[in-house]
Amino acid sequence: MKWGEYKHYMQKEIFEQPQALGNTLEMLGGAGTIQAGLFGADAAGVFEQVDSVLILACGTSSYAGMVARYWIEAIAGVPCNVEIASEYRYRKSVARESQLVVAISQSGETADTIAALQYAKSSGHRYTLAICNVPESSIVREAALRFITRAGPEIGVASTKAFTTQLSTLFLLALVLAKGRGVLSGEDEVAFLDETRHLPVAVEKVLALEPAIRELAQQFGNKHHALFLGRGRHYPIALEGALKLKEISYIHAEAYPAGELKHGPLALVDVEMPVVVVAPNDELLEKLKANMEEVRARGGELYVFADGDSKVTSVPGIQVLKMPEHYGVLSPVLHVVALQLLAYHVALVKGTDVDKPRNLAKSVTVE
Ligand code: G6P
Repeated sequence: MKWGEYKHYMQKEIFEQPQALGNTLEMLGGAGTIQAGLFGADAAGVFEQVDSVLILACGTSSYAGMVARYWIEAIAGVPCNVEIASEYRYRKSVARESQLVVAISQSGETADTIAALQYAKSSGHRYTLAICNVPESSIVREAALRFITRAGPEIGVASTKAFTTQLSTLFLLALVLAKGRGVLSGEDEVAFLDETRHLPVAVEKVLALEPAIRELAQQFGNKHHALFLGRGRHYPIALEGALKLKEISYIHAEAYPAGELKHGPLALVDVEMPVVVVAPNDELLEKLKANMEEVRARGGELYVFADGDSKVTSVPGIQVLKMPEHYGVLSPVLHVVALQLLAYHVALVKGTDVDKPRNLAKSVTVE
């Protein structure tokens, strides 16, 4: 598709993701090793001192943090917490000198994230890192270390390319922390870096699903609610998918870790409730299938985003969209792109103002 053919900034920005990822990952070069210096000249020394991570962010950026938590704990074995900045800034918490505070923000000007970072520093945190898309922003100035994502300007209020570039950066952070702790084998380092560098190509293939996703979106036009399910590192992707849908199509959407279905959301399921399932072919797929059965048994319509090699097929009541590649730990980066496209095309069906959804701002610079 050519630039002039995009209808909205959001669509353009969704399609810019291969480029945005490529630009962000450029600093990696082609080497089979990763260096802490990507995060700033002093990063190696700082990362040696830290024993845990605290991520602070708002909105979509906080969901990037939630995915990162799965990576940082599983790959680096470093405890990681994620807190919504607006909550963290107003509660008494226990500062740990040895904890790395990571503020994630597209704009670098979100009032709550700035205040949370300042609060962390004033309450005794020494080590701070900003992951941000705007180099001269307040959050970057406030933090000691930095990684500037190179998503380019994001105009659409609903964040898309900023999110996937944040994810790729956070994955690199997990690798650097793992390496610093001696828990990343040389073989894994090479393999993970290869997979990371392949992301732009992999995302390109997901973008090619747009016509199929546009088809699917037609079925959401008369819906008032939707439920998104995911498990493990794809639970935050379900959250992000639901957020995208509510932000731009105004359909009320909620996301749940699929294992929680029985603890409440199952009561909402009926024929009027589309249930979107993020279903990569990972260690939790069999569990997820059981959750899908629970939904189907209540008449819920399932829209399943599966991997090419997941043994899930379309039958009445279950529509399966196969992702082009099975992508292991980095799969959240691909699955979210499909959900961005879904939200975008549902919004087109609804006729909403995609780039400027009612009541929302691109950058929330006041409380
Ligand atoms: C607003 C935007 C969201 C964004 C959030 C955090 O709510 O509409 O798209 O995720 O702010 O913004 P930040 O710039 O800090 O990532």
